[in-house]
Amino acid sequence: MCLLCHTAPIPEERFQGDIGPPLAGVGARLDAAQLRLRVVDMRRLNPATPMPSYHRIDGLQRVGAAWAGRPVLDAGQIEDVVAYLRTLRE
Ligand code: HEC
Repeated sequence: MCLLCHTAPIPEERFQGDIGPPLAGVGARLDAAQLRLRVVDMRRLNPATPMPSYHRIDGLQRVGAAWAGRPVLDAGQIEDVVAYLRTLRE
């Protein structure tokens, strides 16, 4: 889902987005805490960002019943994403 808006060095994914910045090298630019904040809730850094907040449940609109009260990614999934982003060093 990140590839809707970002490119990442995953050659087998042919269709990648360009709404967000390329994720290649992001693990060298940002540390784990910075990456975590961006994935959890980019809106804290940029209230106008189109990037979804993957781990917040307050202040959302039009949430489907099955998702009400649940973040898109749970804490463990957030850590998996952060760990992956940390590997993107170049
Ligand atoms: C709807 C589009 C969209 C989606 C989906 C999206 N992003 Fe983003 N992302 C952005 C935009 C736009 C930015 C630039 C920050 C801003 O908006 O101020 C960004 C910024 C980032 C950054 C900071 C990059 C940098 O160089 O500072 C990271 C890391 C990131 N996204 C990771 C992710 C991950 C991981 C996912 C999937 C779990 C994801 N994004 C899904 C649009 C998106």
